[in-house]
Amino acid sequence: MKILVTGASGLLGANIAYMAAQRGADVLAAYNEHPVSIRGCRMQRLDILSQDFSAIRQFRPDCVVHCAAFTNVDGCEADPGKARLLNVEATSRLLKACEGLGNRFIFMSTDSVFGGDKPFHSEGEPVRPLNAYSRTKVEAERLVAGFPNHAVVRTNFYGFNIQEKLSFSEWLHSRFLDGEKINAFTDFFFSPILANNLSDAILELAAGSFTGTMHVAGDGRISKYEFALLFAEKFGFDKSLVLPKKMAEVEALKARRPSDCSLDISKAKSLLRTRILNIDSGIEKYKELYDSGYQKGLRGG
Ligand SMILES: NC(=O)c1ccc[n+]([C@@H]2O[C@H](COP(=O)([O-])OP(=O)(O)OC[C@H]3O[C@@H](n4cnc5c(N)ncnc54)[C@H](OP(=O)(O)O)[C@@H]3O)[C@@H](O)[C@H]2O)c1
Repeated sequence: MKILVTGASGLLGANIAYMAAQRGADVLAAYNEHPVSIRGCRMQRLDILSQDFSAIRQFRPDCVVHCAAFTNVDGCEADPGKARLLNVEATSRLLKACEGLGNRFIFMSTDSVFGGDKPFHSEGEPVRPLNAYSRTKVEAERLVAGFPNHAVVRTNFYGFNIQEKLSFSEWLHSRFLDGEKINAFTDFFFSPILANNLSDAILELAAGSFTGTMHVAGDGRISKYEFALLFAEKFGFDKSLVLPKKMAEVEALKARRPSDCSLDISKAKSLLRTRILNIDSGIEKYKELYDSGYQKGLRGG
């Protein structure tokens, strides 16, 4: 199995590439501004804004997993032109570069394509993006749907970064280690999945033949506040470090955000062999990986 992962220097892409290589896949792991090295992978700089996709045509992947994106939600709001260029136009160029190669194409989309006024959104519900980031993801989803052998995966995840930046879970952990209080939203709900569990599902999708849109997220629904409490509990930190906060109280947020991004994952549960963890078990698995030094391995140590 030959897999090309774009955004392999990012949170999800690095984990997918690392796990695929560990399972014996031939992986071309593409980064842009942050050169990283992932054990067992061929590394390649690939600016998806450039018109040069010769690396893809030479590699001839069985599957492209497209994780590269402009993911900063407030950044996209501040610069919608850049958001469109990276999330829509570059996806279109990548799809064109794949024409005639016969590969599968998996596109990473988001839980925030919905308006978020009800719990557990299912794949068939109409989308209602509230901000520039989500609008670009919806637009890109539509382009990907025109590619013959595709899967669009909507999700929300946490996990271990290959770069020295902090994901939500890593940020929580570092604050708790320093004994710092954190504010967490009581009125934002989501279905977070551990990036490793999500990577299992994506690698299964890469090798399979499912076509269409699938929600692959944590099994359940939780507020950011409850997630932070659960995280503190699993690691044995003082839960009083977690302070409740309402979204409206934070002025720094530029982009409008849906308040309930939880996803109905019944399709994934019925079609995938991968066992999707509930939110509690996902955090337990995260701790297990942390304790076993998983991140060192991911970072090549
Ligand atoms: N994080 C979440 O919970 C979440 C939720 C829903 C959906 N998603 C989607 O899942 C995917 C992965 O997200 P993530 O959080 O893992 O991403 P991330 O950590 O923010 O990383 C973004 C990646 O995009 C790459 N990139 C940016 N500009 C590029 C360019 N011009 N050419 C090539 N690569 C470029 C970056 O490469 P360099 O750093 O090397 O420049 C980096 O590898 C994205 O499509 C995102 O929209 C994420």
